[in-house]
This record gives sequence, C-alpha cells and structure tokens, in this order.
Amino acid sequence: MTGPIARPVALVTGASSGIGTEFATQLAGRGHDLVLVARDEARLEALATELRGRGSHAEVLVADLADPAARARVERRLADPGDAAPVDLLVNNAGYGTAGEFIETDPAVLAANHEVNVTAVLLLCRAALPGMVARGRGGVINTSSVAGFLPGRGSVYGAGKAYVTALSQNLFMSVYGTGVHVMALCPGYTKTEFHERFGQGRPGPGFLWLEADRVVADALADYDRRRELSVPGAVYKAIVAGSRLVPLPILQRLARRSASGRG
Ligand SMILES: NC(=O)c1ccc[n+]([C@@H]2O[C@H](COP(=O)([O-])OP(=O)(O)OC[C@H]3O[C@@H](n4cnc5c(N)ncnc54)[C@H](OP(=O)(O)O)[C@@H]3O)[C@@H](O)[C@H]2O)c1
Repeated sequence: MTGPIARPVALVTGASSGIGTEFATQLAGRGHDLVLVARDEARLEALATELRGRGSHAEVLVADLADPAARARVERRLADPGDAAPVDLLVNNAGYGTAGEFIETDPAVLAANHEVNVTAVLLLCRAALPGMVARGRGGVINTSSVAGFLPGRGSVYGAGKAYVTALSQNLFMSVYGTGVHVMALCPGYTKTEFHERFGQGRPGPGFLWLEADRVVADALADYDRRRELSVPGAVYKAIVAGSRLVPLPILQRLARRSASGRG
C-alpha cells in the first residue's frame, strides 16, 4: 500500500513582503507547503494564516539573516529537517539596498548588507543542495537583480547581485544531471517596499516598473522550463542582452551620466 503523495515544501526567505510574499502565495497556489522566513513575525504569521486558509501547511521561521546564529536555524531546517518534511524548493529572496556612496557608508552597514544579500544566499544553498542531490529532486531560485549586470556607483548592492547571479549559474552547472535545478531571477524595478526601505522613491520612468505578481509568474514559468536565468519583462531582457554586447567603458559612461547613489 502506498500512502498519500507528499506535498512539496518551499522555503522562501523575505516572505514578509513584496516578491517573497508573492512567491509564497503563488507556490501555495501550485500545491506547495511553505516555510516562511524573515524578521517580521507578525507579517509572517498573517501570511501563514492566509495560506493555511487556502489549504497549505505553513511554518513560520523568524530569522535575521544578518545574524549568523539566526541564519544557522534556517540552515538546519534545510539540511537536517528531523521530523519535518524536507524542503524541495529554496527561494533565496531576502535582500535590501543601502543608500549613499561607498566611501561614506558605515562599514558595519556594508558588512550587514553583505551578510543578507550574499553570505546567506551562499550558506543556505550549501545547506539545501546536498539533501536535494541525494533525493534526486529539488531546486533553488536565487533572487538577484539586473543591477548585477550594470556598472553602478554607491553601495555594494550591484556587486553582491553579480555574485548571486554568478553563484547560481555555477551551481546550475554543479548539480546538472542530478535532478536538481538552480536558477537566478534577475528582476528590474519592481513595485514592492524595496526602494522606500532605503529612502528612494520610484526612480526612472513608469514603463520600467514591473508588478511583483508578474515577476514571480515569469520566474516560476522559467523555472519550469529549467532556465538558468530568468529576466522578467521585455525591457529588461533587452537591457541584459545590451549589457553583454556593449563594451564596459561605454556602459560606465552611461552610468556616470545617469547615476547617483546606488545608481
Ligand atoms: N523591488 C525591486 O525593484 C527589486 C529589483 C531587483 C531585485 N530585487 C530583489 O528582490 C528581493 C526581494 O525584494 P523586494 O523587492 O520584495 O523588497 P521588499 O518588499 O523590501 O522585501 C524584502 C524582504 O527581505 C526581507 N529581509 C530584509 N532584510 C532581512 C534580514 N536581515 N533578514 C531576513 N529577511 C530580511 C524583508 O523582511 P523583514 O523586514 O520582515 O525581515 C522582506 O520580506 C531582494 O533580494 C531584492 O534585492 C528587488
């Protein structure tokens, strides 16, 4: 006799807002159970209640991903789930930008940003992938950014996202043929709390702004097609293609003309 078919489990970091909330909601709609990770417990509990009402099992795992001890609890949930169901899909999505020029920004602010945007992505992938490869199934979506393709001033945000894209593409190759898939999602400007969190309004013209539900729907469609890179929106596909064709000095000249801060 066989038991009931287990529902797949997705762990989403940054699930309390924006693209992460959208990932959790759309994955629940696709029949996933959820592990919701972020710092804001009240928002995670409210989302968990909503998802349970739609038939998904939802766990809340409150963690500041800049804090190694808190991050280790998330790593343990991925690597050694104990009696809980193993995670089939890791969505490394938590992240934020910082305002101001590099040389004027407090080194502690830069280091904390690096812990969340870069180190957490690396360590959560390292925690999740061995079990997935052993089970012969599963995957990772790392939310990076088009900023990783473009020269920018100011903070280390674009440099971190370039790392996340490169890491994802390397991991895609590392696990190729094992049944496990890794993809980088590189959105452009998306209507979330991202920009207001560091005091930027809505930079750039309106046509550049994407809706979070569209970004996530495109990302999940690209994940289903086993793409290694997802760039939602025709404008951003063109920008990324251009960034690969146009010589760096020309891109830098364009960036110097238009950029300030994170640029
Ligand atoms: N919006 C855009 O224009 C855009 C463009 C390209 C890429 N992205 C990327 O998309 C991802 C999601 O951002 P979003 O646009 O959805 O912005 P958002 O609405 O500000 O959401 C950011 C999420 O990250 C979580 N987070 C931030 N710091 C954290 C920490 N120290 N520990 C744990 N969780 C933390 C936040 O939760 P708590 O505050 O509850 O911890 C929140 O759930 C980020 O990686 C961002 O870099 C965004």
